[in-house]
Amino acid sequence: MPRHVAVIGAGAIGPDIGYYLKSALPELKLTIIDISQAAIDAALSRFADYTRKALAKGKMNQQQAAAVMLQVQGSTDYDAIKACDWVIEAATENLTLKRRIFAEVEARVAVDAVITSNTSSLPAERIFAELRHKARATVTHFFAPAWRNPAVEVIEYSAAAPELVAWLRWVFCNTGKLPLVTKDVPCFMLDRIFDNWCNEAAMLLDQASAAEIDSVASELVHAGPFFVLNLARGNPIITETNTLQADEEGEHYRPALIFRSVDQWLTVAPGKRVEVPAAKAAAVRDRLLGILLSQAVDILDRTIGTPADLDLGCCTALGFKAGPVALLRDMPNTEAQRILERLALERPGMPMPQRELSAYLRFERHVLVDDLDGVKVITLRRPEALNALHDEMTDEILALIRRYEDDPAVTGFVITGYGTKAFCAGADIGRFPSMLDNRDAAAQYSRDCSRLLVHLDAMQKPVVAALNGMALGGGFELAMRCHALVATEQSWMQLPEVSLGILPGIGAMVVPYRRWPLAASTFHAMLRRCEKLKARQALSLGVVDALAKDSSELIALAVARVQALAHGHGRIADAPVALPAFEPMAAKSASGMALSPTTLALLERAVQQAAQAPTLAAALEIGYLAFGDSACTAAAREGITAFGERRAPDFAAVG
Ligand code: COA
Repeated sequence: MPRHVAVIGAGAIGPDIGYYLKSALPELKLTIIDISQAAIDAALSRFADYTRKALAKGKMNQQQAAAVMLQVQGSTDYDAIKACDWVIEAATENLTLKRRIFAEVEARVAVDAVITSNTSSLPAERIFAELRHKARATVTHFFAPAWRNPAVEVIEYSAAAPELVAWLRWVFCNTGKLPLVTKDVPCFMLDRIFDNWCNEAAMLLDQASAAEIDSVASELVHAGPFFVLNLARGNPIITETNTLQADEEGEHYRPALIFRSVDQWLTVAPGKRVEVPAAKAAAVRDRLLGILLSQAVDILDRTIGTPADLDLGCCTALGFKAGPVALLRDMPNTEAQRILERLALERPGMPMPQRELSAYLRFERHVLVDDLDGVKVITLRRPEALNALHDEMTDEILALIRRYEDDPAVTGFVITGYGTKAFCAGADIGRFPSMLDNRDAAAQYSRDCSRLLVHLDAMQKPVVAALNGMALGGGFELAMRCHALVATEQSWMQLPEVSLGILPGIGAMVVPYRRWPLAASTFHAMLRRCEKLKARQALSLGVVDALAKDSSELIALAVARVQALAHGHGRIADAPVALPAFEPMAAKSASGMALSPTTLALLERAVQQAAQAPTLAAALEIGYLAFGDSACTAAAREGITAFGERRAPDFAAVG
């Protein structure tokens, strides 16, 4: 981890980058450099404002807030950066200025100090052309507001050492960011989408007003292009970045002239819209969709970024409701063809697909795969939902395991979670409302989600769960079917389903009792009272096999565990199991939340019946059916609705 970072530029984004770093790494020394003392003073008072707000919202305690404010200094003198191990340039988008800054920086810092630029459009090759030691330099492009927006593009600059990109990716992952590795082309990946989306909106002004265009765009994005341009004072930026693209790649990218003469657009705020006549709306929609599809296929054909990163980045960094590849997947092929043909006609030169459209859709959307010493490391990556599981994700994991399990070069698998917070926050609750009041559909959903888990039960090659944070509900149910569990000391497990008015239907009422019978009373408390199981306690119960001090050691530990199990691992017992009695208790969770007596009764009955079932398969089926029963209760309706409405459920009213 870096120890002393300098941010050059106390303007709009520099201090926000600094604040993100200080919040994630409170021990860090941070130096903010600017030519203007007033800008530095404003940056420091912004820090104070942010920490005050974080304190008021309970996102930080006093101690954390104090740590963020410590070791932060501003200076107008470059000599203050001498001891830095990472310098982040966040000055104006001006090539000459940036090169001058890098000369000042390089004259002062050590030869191995990392230097990155926050440019949104200028290729690294150009801005670092005069640097003496290029291997330590690249672009790290943050998105506003940089202290909260997780996306950051990390550019694969050809002169940068590969270890630099790997290190930046690792630092960002471990500080709560979402690094997206992107090729070194003008505007990288996400600004190609954003700039051309805005430019296309401006090109459409001969057909519709800004408010009408933003209204149509709101079907695709949370805030329309003109609203965002107002907010970011972005008109000159589009002129600049689209000129760059036009000069390099063709006239079709030339920015709309109107950007030069308009300061603020007359438009509607997000959530509001004006009526747009149907024919006009259709024309605008076609062009906006057309530009998204065109840019997406170009990015993928030129391997500027991966399809999963493109979609995730568009949603996370730019506020799209779905990424362009997901839009392509979800529309009929003929519709996509029609939209692209129309774009080709109205905006000649715009990139068109180089392959069959279906070829763009073949990729893993929700998992990353790495290879470490013959072990496939599968990382669940849905940062927007704490890696919550849904059928697409479990199908992707299963397909990967099937692809590699007969490969003699692969010893086994590790499953872990993306980011610092969660291994997996359970089954995706967003999918539950459709199952309410439908016993058969809910039971079938459990069976379908279990395909992966049942496959794990029968595997010869070992699969190790590496818990890097919370493992809740379905996340813990996935981990408990892996052949061993390792965890960071900070990790914890919980089965919170009864607090949602439902049951954990994919194994938690069955597997722990057959796998760790001596810990049965702990599992009773987890299931009935949502008690947390911390990693250390899980180790003492034998649920977890080994602990890592932190996430930096976790994967190596998991890989070693896979190798240790290469010649065989245990199986979950098939035979019935004796259970301790359920002690009478008030219908309350460990945190004091009133629970539904109906849900608890269903749970206890299912656990007891499953324990007596003659085989594991029969016991699991009892769990699926019991989940189906729970989905038909008023408690489930209340619990799931309350989660969607971000309020505590009121089970007293429903029983
Ligand atoms: N399914 C779908 N989305 C989930 C999810 C799940 N199981 N768990 C978390 N998320 C989403 C949240 O809705 C939120 O989305 P938003 O940013 O669009 O609002 C995002 O992940 C981040 O979670 P948030 O609740 O803001 O984080 P937190 O740190 O305040 O709380 C939890 C974390 C895990 C305590 C809380 O998210 C939670 O209770 N999740 C449900 C856990 C659960 O019951 N799992 C079992 C399901 S069967």
